[in-house]
Amino acid sequence: MSNPIKSALRAGLFRLESGWDALVGRDANPMYCLGAMSWHFFWIVGASGLYLFIPYDTSAIRAWDSIEYISTEQWYWGGMIRGLHRYASDAMVLTMMLHLVREWLLDRYHGARWFAWFTGVPLIWMVFASGVTGYWLVWDELAQYLAIGTAEWLDFLGIFGQSIARNFLNPPALTDRFFTLLIFIHIAVPLFLLFAMWIHILRINRANTNPPRQLIIGSTLMLVALSLIHPALSHPPADLGKATSVLNPDWYFMALYPLYDTKGPAVAWSVAIGASVFLSLMPWMVFRRKRRAAATVSPPNCNGCGNCSSDCPFGAVVLRPRQDASGHSQIAVVQPDLCTSCGICVASCNRTNPFLRGEPHETGIDLPDFTFDLMIKRVSARTHGLVGNNRVLVIGCEHGAVLDHFKGPSVGVLPLHCTGMMPPSMIDYVLNKDLVDGVLVTACRPGECFYRLGPEWTELRMAGERVPKLRGAVSRDRVRLSWAASTESKRLATDLAEFRVALAELPKPEAPETTKRRVAE
Ligand code: HEM
Repeated sequence: MSNPIKSALRAGLFRLESGWDALVGRDANPMYCLGAMSWHFFWIVGASGLYLFIPYDTSAIRAWDSIEYISTEQWYWGGMIRGLHRYASDAMVLTMMLHLVREWLLDRYHGARWFAWFTGVPLIWMVFASGVTGYWLVWDELAQYLAIGTAEWLDFLGIFGQSIARNFLNPPALTDRFFTLLIFIHIAVPLFLLFAMWIHILRINRANTNPPRQLIIGSTLMLVALSLIHPALSHPPADLGKATSVLNPDWYFMALYPLYDTKGPAVAWSVAIGASVFLSLMPWMVFRRKRRAAATVSPPNCNGCGNCSSDCPFGAVVLRPRQDASGHSQIAVVQPDLCTSCGICVASCNRTNPFLRGEPHETGIDLPDFTFDLMIKRVSARTHGLVGNNRVLVIGCEHGAVLDHFKGPSVGVLPLHCTGMMPPSMIDYVLNKDLVDGVLVTACRPGECFYRLGPEWTELRMAGERVPKLRGAVSRDRVRLSWAASTESKRLATDLAEFRVALAELPKPEAPETTKRRVAE
């Protein structure tokens, strides 16, 4: 990444995430699942909203009283639910905005992934529309301020035949029907939001919409505690005949209103629309990077097993029926528009195996600019001539720590597009052929992977829990997995040094059967 400000911010993000890792552990780090946290808060808002809807009175005169009843007469339960509704909404705004910033910092918004970014922008408007209409429903002084401000704001556009603001300046015009309409909007917008959230993740395979259980429980308990310690209360009832007193706004939803007050609707609209258009176009403002060629399928080598389709983080590989003479009923097909060229599919293919004969080495699905054959050649070149009894091949990802810094007389490095591109059989191969004494696989911390699922699949494959599995016969003493963000070269250096010390103490492995036979002959 060339932009120094963005690089510095990203380093700050990684430090913050390390801090969370230390505090709550990698599995419960909320920074790794901000989108999923937004989903979680959405469900809390929805469920608590249903409860609040029951006693709510959709009339101009009784709306405030009905909400007040919930907070005072039922403070223990109704009040807590009201607090949950409000604070979960705030939490949704917070996690959504952090999620946006994080996706930008991790550069995960352009190329084939423009869709998620582009469809994320309307979500911001919908979340804000849901929140602001919710505050109107209370019909207190804050609602009065918001209603008049928003109406004047909308009037500025001139698209509604008559002034909406006049309704608020003319109390008799404020009918119960208006409140019925308001609650309809307040329910309809979140329903649209849910639909839009579903569209937002359509192109993401196995999108994470459920945070880990400990986060669900912890964050919900925190919201409950906040609702009890600092209950959500109303301002005095709205009175259109007089000006509002001192207000205590919710800055998560109302940050633009002071701008409107001071600079007027033209500036406020320009900021809101300008920022949305700018955000929407961001995926196409990245000029520097040429898009890599999409993965391609080799029909003679594809048996339609579906591993690639299941592992692809972006749903770019689908299975289609096959009617040729191959004897296989399906074949993998890559949709180039969705492919990010991460190479994870290459590793998942059961033909991607350096032990298989053939020159060049072919596989069922491959990357045109970094073929499996090239990977094997690089492995040979980078392990050739290594010396000592603790020779190591470090295999990692170009988005993690810069591997070239670790090259040395006993250490070779192999940077890949993503660590998930490495087939476990490659580890087996380099150890079996005695090219090195150990293999250190380094991957971005899960949640920080540029390609989403690389570290997760690598860990599961190496643990033998996901195909293709690292063979059980491979000595685990000679294989190490090290998580390191791009800013964590030091940690990687420490892991490598420790690994090499451990390797030096291991007895020399027995030569594989084939080699023994050849020596005997
Ligand atoms: C209601 C608000 C939002 C929710 C609930 C939400 C939820 C999610 C979820 C669950 C994912 C999948 C994460 C994964 O499994 O890797 C995701 C991905 C993504 N979101 Fe959002 N999101 C929201 C708003 C936004 C906004 C405002 C933006 C930016 C404008 C945005 C940009 C993205 C991008 C670019 C990805 C794809 C990341 C990738 O390809 O690795 N999201 N979102």
